[in-house]
Amino acid sequence: MIRIIAGEFKGRRLKTPATDKVRPTADRVREAWFSILQRSIHGARVLDLFAGSGALGFEALSRGAVSADFVELHRFALATLKANVKTLKVDDRAAIHRADALRFAERLHPGRYDVAFADPPYAGQEAARLVAMFRLNGVRRSPLRRAGSRPAGGHVPAQRVRARLLDRAPCGPTHSGRRHAPLWRHGRHLHLRPVTRIAVYPGSFDPITRGHEDLIRRALTFADRVIVAVAVNVAKQPLFTLEQRLALIQKAAADPRVEVRSFDGLLADFVRAAGATLIVRGLRAVSDFEYEFQMALMNRNLAPGVETVFLVPAFDLTYLSSSLVREVARFGGDVSQLVHPAVGQALKQKFAK
Ligand code: PNS
Repeated sequence: MIRIIAGEFKGRRLKTPATDKVRPTADRVREAWFSILQRSIHGARVLDLFAGSGALGFEALSRGAVSADFVELHRFALATLKANVKTLKVDDRAAIHRADALRFAERLHPGRYDVAFADPPYAGQEAARLVAMFRLNGVRRSPLRRAGSRPAGGHVPAQRVRARLLDRAPCGPTHSGRRHAPLWRHGRHLHLRPVTRIAVYPGSFDPITRGHEDLIRRALTFADRVIVAVAVNVAKQPLFTLEQRLALIQKAAADPRVEVRSFDGLLADFVRAAGATLIVRGLRAVSDFEYEFQMALMNRNLAPGVETVFLVPAFDLTYLSSSLVREVARFGGDVSQLVHPAVGQALKQKFAK
């Protein structure tokens, strides 16, 4: 019997397979991994390779993972996994795959999971093969990438995979006065963590201009996903309703890597909840600087660890702003070079007499 360490199912017991061929990941190892990963688990889609009893995947579900996929071949372990899913009543969040873990890993699609665990058997080459597959630290050609096609535009997202080796023995809390044992050591246990870099591009987007589109494209050169976040409660009285602004962004920035969302309240809270690590803002002229600088510092204060990245737009878009576009369109000027056709059309309708 093993127990869930923390979270929703804290203290609940898990069955372990009735065979000595499969051994559950020890509590101390689980504890160490989860203390390292604590900020990555909430809301994550988790993969548990060589799942055994599923201790890692269930621990992740207990700590707020949205889903856990368990991959296992051994029939006793499969029966145990099913029993544990039933006991914890997580049928809606858990999937069991009867498959060879290495083959399963080889066929992964890019971005399919946020966190992947693998605790392969002692004997055999599984650990070495997994490391070779994901490579160590920030690998470009991972199976996660190879399995998928390149997105439109020929751009390859910086899908990176960190694979780290963790030895079982020296983990766990160290006693005061003693030196911390190195956590990352060459050993049999693997923690594979595909890292998706998410950037939030916030603003009023009233309406989205070619300048915004240019910045989204630039952000996608270093972020795997960009969330265009439209602020609900800005002091200004917008020309377009929130729904109209969202719909226009969807059209102007159509890309599978771009998500369009609205947010209310603090940007820092939204960014953290979205699992993003970057805020993207455009800097057009010196006049933007003071306000942007204040905002970046305040956001850093509110969400340490989230960096604001300033991007410079294309030269011919430097003086473009939504307010300028609205002004020109209001008096019947031609804005076709400055906005997506759908936005041009929407402006025409707004200002039709
Ligand atoms: O396009 P804009 O109007 O310059 O965007 C400004 C926006 C929406 C990014 C900013 O006002 C904002 O982040 N508002 C959310 C509320 C918030 O977090 N305020 C504190 C910022 S330090």
